[in-house]
Amino acid sequence: MSWYKTIFDVPLKGKTVLLRTDLNSNVVEGRVVVSSRLREHAKTIYSLSEEGAKVVVMSHQGRKGDPDFISLKRHADFIKKFVDKDVNFVTWEEDFIGTIKQMKEGDITILENTRFLEIETQEKLSPQEFSEAHPIDKLSEAGDYFVQNALSVAHRNHATVTGFVKLPRFAGPVLERELVALEKLDNKNEPKLLILGGAKPQDSISILGSMLEKGYCNEVCLGGLFGEMFLHAKGTRFGKKDKFLDEKGYAKVEGEIKKILSRHKDKIILPLDLAASDGLDDRKEIRVNELPTEMDIMDIGRETTELFKKKIRGSKIVVYNGPMGVYEKPSFSIGTKKILETIAFGRTFSILGGGDTERAIFALGLLPQDFSHLSLAGKALLEYLAGEKLPGLEILKQ
Ligand code: 3PG
Repeated sequence: MSWYKTIFDVPLKGKTVLLRTDLNSNVVEGRVVVSSRLREHAKTIYSLSEEGAKVVVMSHQGRKGDPDFISLKRHADFIKKFVDKDVNFVTWEEDFIGTIKQMKEGDITILENTRFLEIETQEKLSPQEFSEAHPIDKLSEAGDYFVQNALSVAHRNHATVTGFVKLPRFAGPVLERELVALEKLDNKNEPKLLILGGAKPQDSISILGSMLEKGYCNEVCLGGLFGEMFLHAKGTRFGKKDKFLDEKGYAKVEGEIKKILSRHKDKIILPLDLAASDGLDDRKEIRVNELPTEMDIMDIGRETTELFKKKIRGSKIVVYNGPMGVYEKPSFSIGTKKILETIAFGRTFSILGGGDTERAIFALGLLPQDFSHLSLAGKALLEYLAGEKLPGLEILKQ
């Protein structure tokens, strides 16, 4: 018996299902990039509709002030094409409750970006307070069931994630798949190797600290900007790249990184060498002790790649999040490619997460099925693995 109920275990015909998905996507030049996230949530929408439910879809997109903070209209167009059914899209200015009340069996309505609502991100409110606030109160009255389908948003105490406490609450199939894979990992007491990279380490530094503190990972290999920030905290000066680290908010996280290094330095494996570009796209290997350089640092070096590969081969469980460098440029994809191939072709149980990771997997010719589990979540996955309580999962415990 699992601790949550799943939506396809209850009668759905004629029921209004409020489905919290995560359609949050990469937006390039105003266009939504279609990803597994969109496809997987679209499959759930299709299945619920086929069962005769009235499907009301909720999701956020981007963060206020960012260029990807856009309407869900384009996402709705994609879902319409994908499920090959009529899909109604309503904004918060329209009579969305009236629209929901008029829905018939199998109908699909997608609501506008939930973060366009002020209430959505009032993180200090409790689920009970959210449930009494507009429009969560009205949506709760109009719905029969609430379904959380996305692990990737379950770490947020946001109105449409935790506020539907007045309704019976269920896990959707996308979330269930994540939980089943992760629970397998919980049962394995073997030491875990964590490999972290990517260009946005700020969000995950405290989670890394907490995982090391609790002994949830026994070693961590750091590449990408993650590795560079840790090297910087140990006194490495990169030259040209130092300014970039500043722009990425290095000063704000320096204290935390130094604390982690002082407590766990034996568990943290940092790059020994890096690969830099001289502007002509030529790859130049450069040892960390030969820095600084005015070249652009774009990848981990070959020696580091071999070291990380060896660590992977020696581990039973690998958790990977974020590319090792600028994998979009062939000369600088080597670190990310070799590391991902070692995980994919080896015998290690692997959990991978983060949108950039998924894009890298496809770009480098690998497939999701090459790994034990490719999560649709990034930060939420790490929080889960760090043993944090995720508010969006807590409310599923009834
Ligand atoms: C994600 O992409 O990780 C989720 O959609 C959560 O987005 P957020 O970090 O803006 O809350």
